[in-house]
Amino acid sequence: MTPTFEIHDESRIYIGSASELLPEILPQKRIVVISDTTIAHLHAPLLASYETILIGTSEKIKTLQTIETIYRRFIELGVDRSTFVLAIGGGIVTDIAGFAASTYMRGLQFGFVSTTLLGQVDASVGGKNGVNIDGYKNMAGCFNQPAFVICDPSLLSTLPEREFRAGLAEVIKAAIIADADLFAQLESTTFDQLRQNTDQLSDIIAASIRIKADIVTHDERETGERRKLNLGHTLAHAIEKSSDQMIHGEAVAVGTVLISEVAVKLGTLSVTDYGRIVSLHKQMGFVTESPVSISRMLQEVGKDKKNKEGMLRIVLPAGIGDCEIMPISPEEFARLLQ
Ligand code: GLY
Repeated sequence: MTPTFEIHDESRIYIGSASELLPEILPQKRIVVISDTTIAHLHAPLLASYETILIGTSEKIKTLQTIETIYRRFIELGVDRSTFVLAIGGGIVTDIAGFAASTYMRGLQFGFVSTTLLGQVDASVGGKNGVNIDGYKNMAGCFNQPAFVICDPSLLSTLPEREFRAGLAEVIKAAIIADADLFAQLESTTFDQLRQNTDQLSDIIAASIRIKADIVTHDERETGERRKLNLGHTLAHAIEKSSDQMIHGEAVAVGTVLISEVAVKLGTLSVTDYGRIVSLHKQMGFVTESPVSISRMLQEVGKDKKNKEGMLRIVLPAGIGDCEIMPISPEEFARLLQ
């Protein structure tokens, strides 16, 4: 099977049917699946052939406690270095399973079947694995590439509307940072069309992964260009830390709109392009106002793991399809956000 994309020679990314691809690409090893209770309910046939460890759902379980529970189950099951860990689920499952597999016995091979739009276009691709600490996002983790990622658009038909929309926030983000054509394609469609038209959906998934795979191939460990993929995320993480009202993609949408406003003030983005960014988010049904105050967000921004030597690094849209990374003092950032 030829992968749709590859990151170095390490991680193969397939867009296609998981049930057809898995028998072809799984290694001839013992397979242990990590999935969650929702997937076990919605996609039972996909899990049926494997020993399975089920975890709970929601960002709240992305903790070291969950990792420890998985290690204990690995020990009970006699998992060893010759076992292949297959994670089947959204971004929370793949982040957790990738971290557990990367650290158990100093590392097992692993692969993903990504079952959410957000997972397919962002979280499962690129080798970031980890968990939150006291609500601070991805504070413990590692860069380690999955052997493969399967993005099966047909699995998205069971995705609740809210989760689907959350994934679109990462598609819009990818378009803003690197693909003006993708942005225009999104402008010319609707939320409902994207949900219903599998070909169109596969196209935008492929376009988003292309951007991510290209960036990660050049900067796997986020020393430069990969930071662009964090557009909107510093503020999104601050919103998620301060409030339970928004899931990740919803917070990314707000963070992207707010940082675009800052970009207008700093002169990297025109008012016209800012208008297009706001309009596209609204067209896709996003709330674009933050549920928490700017001052509350700013308290959290100071703790972002991407800060260096007291300076924040913000990703600013520089037109549609382009962006730049700028170091900025917390005081200046606060002034621009008010
Ligand atoms: N989600 C951003 C990244 O993978 O770098």
